[in-house]
Amino acid sequence: MEKVHTPKRVAAQPGQRGKIALIAAGCAAAVLLAAYLGLCAWVGGSPNILKGVSVAGVPVGEGFLGRVVDALGSPIDGAGPIQADAYYPVERPASGIMDRQPVNQPMETGLLAIDALFPIGRGQRELIIGDRQTGKTAVALDTILNQKGKNVVCIYVAIGQKASSVALLAENLRRRGAMDYCIIVNASASDSASLQYIAPYAGTSIGEYFMHQGRDVLIVYDDLSKHAIAYRALSLLLERSPGREAYPGDVFYLHSRLLERSAHLSDEKGGGSMTALPIIETQAGDVSAYIPTNVISITDGQLYLESSLFFSGQRPAVNVGLSVSRVGGDAQTKAMKKAAGAMRLDLAQYREMEVFTQFSSDLDDATKRQLTYGQGLMRLLRQKQYSPLSQHEQVITLVAALNHVLQDIPVEQISGAQRQMLDWFAEQDAALCQRIDSTGLLTEDDRQQILSLARTFVAQYQKKGQ
Ligand SMILES: Nc1ncnc2c1ncn2[C@@H]1O[C@H](COP(=O)(O)OP(=O)(O)OP(=O)(O)O)[C@@H](O)[C@H]1O
Ligand SMILES: [Mg+2]
Repeated sequence: MEKVHTPKRVAAQPGQRGKIALIAAGCAAAVLLAAYLGLCAWVGGSPNILKGVSVAGVPVGEGFLGRVVDALGSPIDGAGPIQADAYYPVERPASGIMDRQPVNQPMETGLLAIDALFPIGRGQRELIIGDRQTGKTAVALDTILNQKGKNVVCIYVAIGQKASSVALLAENLRRRGAMDYCIIVNASASDSASLQYIAPYAGTSIGEYFMHQGRDVLIVYDDLSKHAIAYRALSLLLERSPGREAYPGDVFYLHSRLLERSAHLSDEKGGGSMTALPIIETQAGDVSAYIPTNVISITDGQLYLESSLFFSGQRPAVNVGLSVSRVGGDAQTKAMKKAAGAMRLDLAQYREMEVFTQFSSDLDDATKRQLTYGQGLMRLLRQKQYSPLSQHEQVITLVAALNHVLQDIPVEQISGAQRQMLDWFAEQDAALCQRIDSTGLLTEDDRQQILSLARTFVAQYQKKGQ
């Protein structure tokens, strides 16, 4: 291990683990998976590097639940060793088309703006994209919290973040009683580029273990921009020729082979699923940069978070016009589909009218009503962090709002009124709420019942206000 071909001589310790990144005639290079050493290259001779070569892998198993591990699966939370059930290679081929079935079950985020407009299905890959500090992590975190009691294994892969922010997130999950169904894989900013590079693959392997047992898995990659940067650093050290934005030519493959591993397995294969929420950070809203366009084209849709919305108080800052979910609609429950029906159209009309009426001051009453209706809908899409809505709460809100029942409540009071209304529904007709949650259906009788209760509530609310 002496012949080293990098600007500086680097010596590898015997027994140190690495991942072979390049083999050419008479030369091999390995990416060392150590915290302090990024890369080591050997030229000529018969390099020791090729002795004892085995497939790079991570331990996996039930014992990982509730734990924080590094990119190689070793615990870093000080809670003792983890009992592994198996050893999975970090890179494995994605499930074939015959082993899959269509996405047909919802993965509820608990966020009205997403579940009603851009529903996500189990096995889908939905990108969360936006500038820095636009609530990207918050959307992923709320989705994880919403899986409580739903028998979903959640894996959060942190790439290139400050160790302190990951510790904070773990603490947050623990405090909210969510850590026991979560696994955090952390390759922080102070770890080597090689560990950051391998972390999402390792997290995916840990997820696959559960998926193969027929379980549902949710995996968040926070974020793949930093992952691409780590890979670029490695590639430049390996003397690969830089391409666009100095990324190597195979950077598309870097993310496609990762995200292809998310799947909804066929019933013969156990019916498990892995839903991916990759996160990409953009610079000044530029979604046409190299890495964002790549990942947009790989995923089944994107939630586009916008700074201007975020700062105007519209949080989660989902841009309703630019976000899409290409397969999740099939996975929406019948109740949600029926309740949310006209919402997208109504919002599109509202946006159009808003632009159109921006400069005119004397509007007729019908237009004014239409505008306040749209503003009310946008207000209802605002949601505080850590307060996911259950399915029946979303259905009740949508049925009431889209039938103009909440129209006469002043826009700035609408969020408070919504909360009161939902609490009141739980008191008045708990059976109805329970029925929607358990069956996922909205019968015509139930719809009428929601409308009549909502009208009673609004009448009472207005009387109280006077
Ligand atoms: N729905 C919300 N309501 C209120 N505050 C929110 C909401 N979503 C996010 N925030 C707050 O906004 C801040 C930024 O959120 P977050 O860290 O999720 O953004 P991010 O896009 O992941 O940022 P970064 O680019 O630093 O990773 C946090 O302080 C968070 O608490
Ligand atoms: Mg973040």
